[in-house]
Amino acid sequence: MARRRKGYVKAVIGTQWGDEGKGKIVDFLAKDAHIVVRYAGGGNAGHTVINDRGEFKARIIPVGIFNQYTELNIIGRGTVPALDLVVQELKVLEEKNIEFRDRLKIDFAAHLVMPWHIAEDRLEEEARGDQKIGTTGSGIGPCYADKIKRVGFRAGDLFNTNQFRQRFIEMWRNKFEYLLRNYNAHFSDCIGCPYCELIRFSPYDEFAKIVNQLDYLAQKFQYLENLICETSPILWEAIDSGKKILLEGAQGALLDIDGGTYPYVTSSNTGAASAAQGSGIAPSDITHVIGVLKAYTTRVGSGPFPTRADFETEEKLRYLGKEYGAVTGRPRLCGWNDENMLRVVARMNKITAVAITRLDVLDNFEKVGIGVGYIHNCYESDYGWCKNPYHALRDPHVESSFVEYMPGWGISTNSCREWDALPKDAQNFCKRIACGIPIKYISVGAKREETIVL
Ligand code: IMP
Ligand code: MG
Repeated sequence: MARRRKGYVKAVIGTQWGDEGKGKIVDFLAKDAHIVVRYAGGGNAGHTVINDRGEFKARIIPVGIFNQYTELNIIGRGTVPALDLVVQELKVLEEKNIEFRDRLKIDFAAHLVMPWHIAEDRLEEEARGDQKIGTTGSGIGPCYADKIKRVGFRAGDLFNTNQFRQRFIEMWRNKFEYLLRNYNAHFSDCIGCPYCELIRFSPYDEFAKIVNQLDYLAQKFQYLENLICETSPILWEAIDSGKKILLEGAQGALLDIDGGTYPYVTSSNTGAASAAQGSGIAPSDITHVIGVLKAYTTRVGSGPFPTRADFETEEKLRYLGKEYGAVTGRPRLCGWNDENMLRVVARMNKITAVAITRLDVLDNFEKVGIGVGYIHNCYESDYGWCKNPYHALRDPHVESSFVEYMPGWGISTNSCREWDALPKDAQNFCKRIACGIPIKYISVGAKREETIVL
């Protein structure tokens, strides 16, 4: 395959609450890229890729691994991998004969999700009662919290075996006492976490069992040792020699810890700035920011969702879009895009082009919508004082949105391969939701080739 000569660094970011179809877009773009970097998040993500070898859900490994033209995939320093998960995904690659040994690196500074982070995440959620954030239970929040507290374990720490062991035992003792002291009452409610199970049944024996995890981690480390290194210099050299690089986002702009619907957010930065920071390159190295925009919106977990659709429409969107969490299997809430919010997200990330995904899911809707204003407690609400309207949304239950409807197109777009082949109404809808940002890609199906390039 001929590659274009000029290098670039394209950040592919989510513009909504995750699940926009970033996996599909990165997979599509990877055929033209030398390197793909995952820069933030961890096992909370689930990037679905469908190709000639089957359907894959990549939670931590960059989806460039599925593309033979991609020379290198990097789990960047801004991510929080769990060793188990990495090994589990590598086993799948092995089974499918997908070569990864020379095509995958993990940055030494990436913080590891440790066994106790998963227990902490789930027990903290249980204790929140009806104030739950709705986390994916993958230990993300506690791991990033320890990183910021400067007590975390980084991938590179694994090389220093003795120190690692000592710190592991010390940390587990502290965490163990903390969990027993604060969350004792919640052990019986927390389901599905092996670590909580252990502590619940026999606290003090189980302390030792998790210490035994050290041997287990040591085994995993043996498997991964050759993959862990300092990855930023590889990227600097690649950029300076004109290579093509994709920065694969996870989650979306509205789950960003600073810019999203706090506290109903994830614990990392999800946008273009984080793409640079989490890969260890300069912000000015990024040449393109591609905002992935699902033709409608979904959210999983708690928090405001003013453009959520009525019951019937939501059911239809969920059914046609198979909108269930890739990690947790939870049904996603479904609704429309929100023009005010999209403008904020586009500006905040300086999005240079959008990739509209899942247009085909709307093929059989009589009318299709976009949110244009807010309603608070049944009254029209003016959030003009707040440029990021979601900062103003305090109570997730009373907010809703005025929706402007446009006519649907009523025929399948799945076989369309160019803009001119799309029905006029579909074109108008795409232009409307793109809010003036150039449209570069439109995805009309899950498969790689079901994509329109403009
Ligand atoms: P955490 O990232 O597991 O801590 O979850 C925090 C919030 O982000 C919850 O509302 C999750 O449902 C949401 N979230 C995290 N990762 C994803 C994702 O990949 N897609 C959609 N929602 C996510
Ligand atoms: Mg997902």
